[in-house]
Amino acid sequence: MTYIDFMSVVHKSTKRDYLARVNDPDYPKAKAANLAKTWGYDYWDGDRSIYYGGYQYIVNRWEKVARAMAKHYNLPKNPKILDIGCGKGYLLFDFLKVIPDAEIFGIDISNYAIENSKEEIREHLQVGNATELPWPDNHFDLVCSMNTFHNLYNYELEKALKEFERVVYVVCEMGIAKFDLKERVWELIFRSSIYHAKTVYSLTVNQKHIFLGTENGLVRINKKTGFTRDYSFPFIGQVNAMNLDGKTLWQKI
Ligand SMILES: C[S@@+](CC[C@H](N)C(=O)[O-])C[C@H]1O[C@@H](n2cnc3c(N)ncnc32)[C@H](O)[C@@H]1O
Repeated sequence: MTYIDFMSVVHKSTKRDYLARVNDPDYPKAKAANLAKTWGYDYWDGDRSIYYGGYQYIVNRWEKVARAMAKHYNLPKNPKILDIGCGKGYLLFDFLKVIPDAEIFGIDISNYAIENSKEEIREHLQVGNATELPWPDNHFDLVCSMNTFHNLYNYELEKALKEFERVVYVVCEMGIAKFDLKERVWELIFRSSIYHAKTVYSLTVNQKHIFLGTENGLVRINKKTGFTRDYSFPFIGQVNAMNLDGKTLWQKI
């Protein structure tokens, strides 16, 4: 997995006085944490010792993050974007400034956050848990989540991460099979004849395509249409491993 930093444009590290927080006379750490975990008024707009201390929209703050993501990922003109743990919806709201035709979806466990979210986009946000996303597989072009997954318990985390990427692709003699981690079912999605039964040494996927590294180059398959494109040149040779980094595909020969 590639590490890309979209966040430091908005988050600068600040020094915290942990001792003072633990010994806060009104909201000692344990009390504050218990209140925060209810994800209600106290967490968002209550006392600063509890959590945000008033979480307000700051014009253009999240636009920088949205712009960086939009630039990095090869998104279509009207992408479907999901934010898991969307809070008051500020990132999604700013996404629309960067990609006005985007279809946005937000989910968050906090009733209070959704009720007090950006009014302009509230109808696109819903209350729900990261461990049970109410959408089918491959519904989104981009799924993002900021500062949310650390709130989950370990046993929830595995489930939530599987919700992020529910599908595993495998090449076998018959072709390319898809394994649904949630439903635990296999499906043969492309027969090997569509890539001329070449020997496959590596595989990687993005939203639109499956890339196969073969004995003499690369085959790209459109997931929806099955259209293939063959990049077989003598100078490429056998592609043993691949890494997709945004729009760039690196190959290890
Ligand atoms: C630190 S806030 C971040 C909010 C927002 N992503 C942002 O950066 O402005 C953490 C968010 O995670 C949400 N959250 C916590 N557990 C969750 C869960 N199991 N499913 C969905 N959302 C959850 C909280 O309600 C809260 O909105």
